[in-house]
Formats: sequence, C-alpha cells, structure tokens
Amino acid sequence: MRSDAPAPPCTLVIFGASGDLTHRKLLPALYYLYEQKLLPEQFAVIGVARQELSADAFRREAAKHLRAFVKNPKPALVARLVKRLRYVVGDFGAPDVFLKLKRELVEVERAHATKGNVLFYMATAPDYFAPIVESLAQQGLLREDRGFRRVVVEKPFGRDLKSACELNARLLAVADEKQIFRIDHYLGKETVQNLLVFRFGNAIFEPIWNRRYIDHVQLTVAEDIGVEGRGGYYDTAGAMRDMVPNHIFQLISLIGMEPPSAFDADSVREEQGKVIRAFAPLSPEDLKRHVVRGQYKGYRSEPKVARDSRTETFTAMKLYIENWRWADVPFIFRTGKKLPCRTSEIVIQFRRAPLRLFRQAGVEAITPNQIVIRIQPNEGIALNFEAKVPGPSMKVGTVNMDFRYQDYFGLRPSTGYERLLHDAMLGDAMLFRRADALEAGWAFVEPVQKAWARSRARPAAYKPGTWGPP
Ligand code: BG6
Repeated sequence: MRSDAPAPPCTLVIFGASGDLTHRKLLPALYYLYEQKLLPEQFAVIGVARQELSADAFRREAAKHLRAFVKNPKPALVARLVKRLRYVVGDFGAPDVFLKLKRELVEVERAHATKGNVLFYMATAPDYFAPIVESLAQQGLLREDRGFRRVVVEKPFGRDLKSACELNARLLAVADEKQIFRIDHYLGKETVQNLLVFRFGNAIFEPIWNRRYIDHVQLTVAEDIGVEGRGGYYDTAGAMRDMVPNHIFQLISLIGMEPPSAFDADSVREEQGKVIRAFAPLSPEDLKRHVVRGQYKGYRSEPKVARDSRTETFTAMKLYIENWRWADVPFIFRTGKKLPCRTSEIVIQFRRAPLRLFRQAGVEAITPNQIVIRIQPNEGIALNFEAKVPGPSMKVGTVNMDFRYQDYFGLRPSTGYERLLHDAMLGDAMLFRRADALEAGWAFVEPVQKAWARSRARPAAYKPGTWGPP
C-alpha cells in the first residue's frame, strides 16, 4: 500500500510544543519513526509555544518526556533526536512570533538541508487553528515555490456544522486543499487500517458483508479513565463532540464503505464520505428512543468542570445507513469515560441460523455468528461459530477462533501518530479527513446537539466502573 522509505527532508513546526499532545504522542511518535529509520537525516523540529524557555531547556524537557513516554528508549537515540529540536517562544496571536519563526526556518534550512519543506502541526487549542494558518499565509510561509508547505490540523475540527464549515472556509481561503491534513488518530491505528485489508483482501467476507447476512453492528469505544486533567476542554465538548463525528464515524465508514477502485486518497475517502452521507436523518422520535447520554457520578467535582455541568461523558446511539447494502441494519455505538475497562471493538453480528432443524433434536437456542474486531487492546479478530458439543446427544456450543496480532506479527510500540506524521511528510492524504465527510458527520449529529442544548434535563447519572445508563 505504501513505501517504507524515509520521509523527504523537512522541518516539522509544532505549534503548542509545551502541551500534552506533544509530550505524550508527537515526540514519542518521532522517536519511533527515527528508530525505524523513517525520518530523513535532513530533519529538524521547531517547537513553538508561549512558555518562556531557552532552546536548551526545551531539549531537556523533550528528553524527559521521551524517557517517560517511549517504551524502552535508547539514550543515544534520544540524544540524537533532541539535538534536532529548536524552540521559538511567543504568543500565537501576535505577529512577532511568525517573524521569529520565519527567521528560524531559514536558519534550520541552512543547518539541516531541509530543502524548504515544512510541515506545520496545529497541536494547540482549536481556537488558534485558523488564526495561526492565516498568519503563516500572511508571512508567505505557505507558498510552495521552494518545497512543500503543509498544515496538519488536530481535532476537534469545529464544534458543530457551522463552525466546522467556517474553519474549512478560513483554511481554504489561504491554503490549497492538498496542503491541509485534518488528522484523526484513529486512522493511524494498525487495526483500523487493517479493516480495509480484512474486508477487501479476503474473498470470504465481502460477499456476506451486507443486510442479507448481517443482523446488526455494535461499536464500543470505552475508556476506564475520567477526564483526567482535561476538564477545561472536555466540559465544553462532551462525549459526542469528542468522539463521534470523528473517531466513531471513521470506524463506521470503514465497516460500511463500498470497495474503493484504488488505494489512493480520493478513491478511499470518496467511499467513506458516501457512507456518512447515507446515514438516515434522526427524527424527533429517534432522538428520544435511539440516543442516550450519561454523566458519571463525580464528574462535576473534576477540576475545571462546572458544578452544574450538563456535559455528557457517555453517549450511545442506534443509527441506520440507508443504502442498498445496509438498509434496516442497526449500527449501534457507545462511547464514554469511567466505564469498566479500556476497549475499542466492533462486533459484526450475523443473522441467526434457522432453528427448526435443531429444535427437533432438542436444541433450544443457536447463538448467531459474530466477527469481533478488537481495535485495542489485545488487537485482533475473532470469529464465533456454533459446533456440536461431543457426546451422545445433540448439544450445540459456541466456539471462538481468535487471531491475535501479537502472536502472528508481534506488535511494535507505537502511539498511532507515526504513520500519520510520515504520510503527511510524504504528502499522502488517504488517512486524513476530507472536508465533505467531516461536514456530513457534523450535519448528522446536529439535531442531537440542538435537542440537548434545548433540554433542561441533565444527562442520566451512572456509577463509575459501570457501562453507563440503560
Ligand atoms: C481523543 C479524545 O481524540 O481520543 C480523548 O479527545 C480520548 O478524550 C482519546 O481519550 C482516545 O484515544 P485512544 O487512542 O486512547 O483510544
């Protein structure tokens, strides 16, 4: 599907370099890429943040985070990586920081021969995405006359349909669609990418992957942790905005899509977009019966959370994809914090086999076949089917055929960001979101957002460590 060559020479500029995402994900991802020789020798990072730090202090901090978040870090490799880091202090709202950055880029290009290629990563609070990109454009930093200039935009991409459209319009006013990489780290997960291979690289699944054979599909994206230190952001977002139009709809679109004609960015994303656009709109009745929201007990006492917060920390929904492949097949998802365990999995439940044949032999129930796709942890795929229990009478039991990634291929430590960073450096947008699908996702959840905003009721309370409200 892709080349394993190192990325081309380039500079990565990280806005929000003193934040959690940089520490926990981006720096470790760079380390793993470096370890796998997927970064070129002509490579440098410029961190940009408000925190007053010298470049040396920034490198020391980075080394500390690499030691904390990389599995078995090699001291020599950490040292070589941090040597490539530079730092620019400043307020993203002030023009001054972009002038400093411009000078630093010239300097870096000379020192590291990065050939004018720059990837700008927005790891900041979402309000800064558009102003930063506009300031980059004003300084001429997005002109591609001497190398590529690309922008990676983190989620949340907007907070509803209107703001997502506005953000898109602002970005597209100063940059070309080909320069914009809207990231969703779920697409960086190996098991999510494997959905395409599992479905389209095997002759035995695709013929039964439809409404004739599938009874329903269940998706669970559960976390056992609460909002941790992110109460300030989370309380303005909630489970729906945080997880649904992005991660969950990505998963549903990969399960539901038609085979693309090629493994390239436009063919794959076109098919994904069609799935989301085919979601049956939610009627007022659906909103009452098919959508659930909950809030874990104790959430209101979390730091930076309003004492009377009505933000949901759990949501579940039943939706339908109204096309020839999927009409009448419920897709049911749930996601939330403080649930019993951390797990992301997709269950494809097939229709029950007709029972009459077995009933005559005294069998009372047949369990429907299931394919269980475990995204994390214990990455793998299981197939459940019925078998005769050995013995003189006709007894039927369910057996489980279980493939584990770890056993077959081993699992490299990763953050999920490696492939995405590498792809953005290579200019491959297949695993990034296109504006149309993103807007279709927001359009679909809009009635839910409006109904919740109107409602005076608080989300149903649930006890931490349980599977949310009924
Ligand atoms: C992020 C959400 O996008 O995904 C977080 O903002 C959530 O709230 C996280 O915890 C889950 O990602 P993962 O990779 O741990 O499943």
